[in-house]
Amino acid sequence: MIIGCPKEIKPQEFRVGLTPNAAREAVSHGHRVLIETNAGAGAGFEDADYTAAGAEVLQTAAEIFATTEMIVKVKEPQAGERKMLRAGQVLFTYLHLAPDPDQTHDLIASGATCIAYETVTDDQGGLPLLAPMSEVAGRLAPQVGAWTLQKANGGRGVLMGGVPGVGPARVVVIGGGVVGTHAAKIAAGMGADVTVLDRSLARLRYLDDVFGGRFKTSYASAGNTLELAQAADLIIGAVLIPGAAAPKLISRAQLSTLKPGAALVDVAIDQGGCFETSKATTHSDPIYDVDGIMHYCVANMPGAVARTSTIALGNATMPFMLALADKGWRQACLDDPHLLNGLNVHAGQLTYYAVGKALGLDVISPTVAIRQ
Ligand SMILES: NC(=O)c1ccc[n+]([C@@H]2O[C@H](COP(=O)([O-])OP(=O)(O)OC[C@H]3O[C@@H](n4cnc5c(N)ncnc54)[C@H](O)[C@@H]3O)[C@@H](O)[C@H]2O)c1
Repeated sequence: MIIGCPKEIKPQEFRVGLTPNAAREAVSHGHRVLIETNAGAGAGFEDADYTAAGAEVLQTAAEIFATTEMIVKVKEPQAGERKMLRAGQVLFTYLHLAPDPDQTHDLIASGATCIAYETVTDDQGGLPLLAPMSEVAGRLAPQVGAWTLQKANGGRGVLMGGVPGVGPARVVVIGGGVVGTHAAKIAAGMGADVTVLDRSLARLRYLDDVFGGRFKTSYASAGNTLELAQAADLIIGAVLIPGAAAPKLISRAQLSTLKPGAALVDVAIDQGGCFETSKATTHSDPIYDVDGIMHYCVANMPGAVARTSTIALGNATMPFMLALADKGWRQACLDDPHLLNGLNVHAGQLTYYAVGKALGLDVISPTVAIRQ
């Protein structure tokens, strides 16, 4: 198969769909890999790294789209990219179609076969191509929280690990899923006093079994959540209710009851945020103050560490990318129902029910589409 990887053009996106290692694997399976010049630069990969891996470097995205059978990207295709997709071509990338009718209509009109990273599943009921970015955001949260707590940034001036004779920062992580677990591990590793809150007792049992002694767990009743938040220096919001906006767990009125200069890192901001006063910020202007409480609410946290994020995403996508290239998308999806769950659009038809429901569009079953 001829596999293409254009440079990402969405603002502030520095990741790239194929690492040189992924390109090398594809080439070793007998495929041709075409990469746009400078596509990996934002993640620290030079064109020479790709040519050393056996890929060919092309000058424009237009050549990549025109000459390849499968496009591998990171972000959803932008309007100009969508115009270059064609019937029979496979697109493998994050799509997030439900809130994006324009993109959905363009992908349906393109006739291409579009497989979305975010809806590929695994045997454990997880989302294996979303999990790496949750791991990155979770591990980044205490790092940016520690920075936000510094006096010059408006924070309380508390050091995460304390020093001999001075206690550590108190960190509360609300939500003990992928983001929350990784946030708690790193915060505990920095020497902070960490408590994780969750509404799932099964999850709290798991965390206690695996991490008991490194951090504490607490049931996320409204009372417990507020009491722990009021004693905290750093509060990390990491909740998710699938398919719903994040619940608001700290209200504007409650802000004044928190410690002055406390920091809120709202990782759930991409689902609307779990603090009433959260609003999305960017890497260039990440924090703001409400009532003396510092808020960090960057919606694409993994972008801050584009190299780590690119490699982590590449590790997760590579087996699927190779299956699609080796077998063709039809056979790969027939062999793997989890990959078939990623099919969102095929040959002019929507194939993902939740997207159809959100946008009021007709959907055909992916098991029917795959046979067309
Ligand atoms: N900002 C970013 O860059 C970024 C990056 C990755 C993920 N995220 C977001 O982070 C959030 C968490 O993602 P995840 O992968 O950890 O999800 P997850 O499903 O693994 O974990 C969510 C956890 O929240 C718990 N929960 C739900 N409601 C709760 C409540 N009221 N109180 C306490 N706990 C509650 C659930 O039981 C679950 O354990 C999501 O909104 C996700 O979209 C943001």
